[in-house]
Amino acid sequence: MNRVHIKTYGCQMNERDSEAVAAMLRARGYSIVEDEGEADVVLLNTCSVREQAEQKAIGKAGHLGRRKKRNPNFLVGVMGCMAQNKGADLLDRLPDLDLLVGTQKFHTVPDHLDNLIASLQGQGPRPSTLVDLEAEAGSQNTIRDHVPGERQVSAFVSIMQGCNMKCSYCIVPKTRGPERGRPIDDIVAEVEELAAAGTREVTLLGQIVNQYGVREFPFVDGKSPFVQLLERINAVEGIERIRFTSPHPSGFKQDLIDCYGRLEKLCEYIHFPLQSGSDRILKAMRRPYSVEKFSRILEAMRERCPDLWVSTDVIVGYPGETQEDFQLTCDAFERIGFDMAYVFKYSVRPDTAAEPLGDPVPQEIKEERNQILLDKLQAHSLRRNQSLVGQTLEVLVEGPARRGENRFTGRTRGFRKVVFTGSERLVGQLVPVRIKEATVTTLEGELVLSGVDLDKVPASV
Ligand code: SAH
Ligand code: SF4
Ligand code: F3S
Repeated sequence: MNRVHIKTYGCQMNERDSEAVAAMLRARGYSIVEDEGEADVVLLNTCSVREQAEQKAIGKAGHLGRRKKRNPNFLVGVMGCMAQNKGADLLDRLPDLDLLVGTQKFHTVPDHLDNLIASLQGQGPRPSTLVDLEAEAGSQNTIRDHVPGERQVSAFVSIMQGCNMKCSYCIVPKTRGPERGRPIDDIVAEVEELAAAGTREVTLLGQIVNQYGVREFPFVDGKSPFVQLLERINAVEGIERIRFTSPHPSGFKQDLIDCYGRLEKLCEYIHFPLQSGSDRILKAMRRPYSVEKFSRILEAMRERCPDLWVSTDVIVGYPGETQEDFQLTCDAFERIGFDMAYVFKYSVRPDTAAEPLGDPVPQEIKEERNQILLDKLQAHSLRRNQSLVGQTLEVLVEGPARRGENRFTGRTRGFRKVVFTGSERLVGQLVPVRIKEATVTTLEGELVLSGVDLDKVPASV
C-alpha cells in the first residue's frame, strides 16, 4: 500500500509542489512510482488557469474512480489549484475521491495518506473523503524539500506563494491566495543544499517573482528583496546559472535591470509576459503598463545584455479584442522579436473580474489568431536559432536525450535546447558545444573536445 504516483498539470510551481510532496512522502516511507498502473495511490496535482486544464484532470480522476470500483483499496486524491477553486463541490462530480487537498496544505498529504491507509487496513472507520482546503499561515515555507540522493542538475526553487495582482482574467489569486515570501536565509540554505547535492542551475519560482518580499522584507541600498536574493544566490558556490519565472512588467525597476551583466550567473534569458500588444486591452485586463513601457524595460535589459533571449505569454480572444487590437499584438511580436511564446486562447474563469463579460470572441477567430502568432514565432525562432550555427556555446549538460545512443541534451544560457553526442560523465558540467544545425526548437551540436577520450574527461572541463 505504499506506492504513490503523482501526475502534475499546470505550471512550474505545480511541478515544484509535486516534487516537494514526493520528497515528504519518501521521507515517510512511501515509494514514488513512474508507472501509474503499479501505484496503490494516485495523486493528481491540478491546474485551473483555463477550463481545459480542469476538464483534463476531471476526466482523469473519473477514469481512476472506475479503477477503484475494481480495487477498493486503490486511493485517489486531487491536490492543488482545482481542489482549491472548486472545493468540496468537486465531490458532486467525483464522489469516489479519497482526498482533496488545497494549495496551502500540500505538507499534510503524508498524514492524510497514513490515516486513509490505516483505516483501509481495518485500524479505524473508513472515512469519507478527507477535505483539507484551509488557508494556513506560513504554508509558503513548506515547499522546501527535495528528494535526497536524487541529483537535479537544474532545480526549481519556490521563493513565494500567491499573487496580489488583480488581472481581470486570472484565477490564480483565488487558487493560490495572497503573496507570501519565504525568508531569504531559508531560500539560500535550500540553494546551498541543492548545490552540495550537484545542482548547477536554479530557477526561482513565483507568480510574480519581482514582487518577492516587498511587503515583508526591507529594501537595502535601494535594492528590492528580490535583487538581494539574486545577489545572495549568485554567491553560492557550485551554482553556475540562475533563472527566474515569472516577473511582471510593473515593479520591474532599475535595480533588477542592473542585475543583467552585473551578476555573472544570471542567464541571458527572461520570460516576460506581455499578454496583449494593445494598450486598450491591457487596460481592460488590468495590466498596469503600456506596450511602450514593456518595450522600454526590455530595451534597457538588452542594452546591458545584447544576447538576451526573451519568451512571453499572450492571450488571444480576450472579450472585446478587435481585429485592430490583434493587429497591434502582431506588430508588437514583429517589433520585439520573441524567441519563444506561450499563446493562450482566452478562457472564462469563475469569480474573476472578466467573468461577467462572457466569451464573445468566436472560437474560430481565437484559433486563427493563435495560429497567426505561432507562425510569426516559428519564423523568428528559426531565424534566431540559425544565427547560432557555427558558434561555440556554453552548454549545461542535463542528461541523456530521449533518443539515440550516447546522445545527451543540455541548454545554453539563453535556454536553447542542444542535442549532441557525449558521455554520462559530462552530466552536470558546463561544456563548450559547437552548433552545427538549428530547427525551431532544437540545436544540433558537437562537443569541442578534439582528440579527447570522453570517458577520461576529468570531473571539471
Ligand atoms: N503569474 C504569471 C502567469 C501565471 S498564469 C504572470 O502574471 O505572468 C500563466 C499564463 O496563463 C498567463 O500569463 C496568461 O497568459 C495565461 N492565462 C491566465 N488566465 C487565463 C485565462 N483565463 N485564459 C487564457 N489564458 C490565461
Ligand atoms: Fe494571474 Fe496576473 Fe497574478 Fe499573473 S500577475 S498570476 S496573470 S493575477
Ligand atoms: Fe495553474 Fe495553479 Fe499554476 S491555476 S498555472 S497550476 S498556479
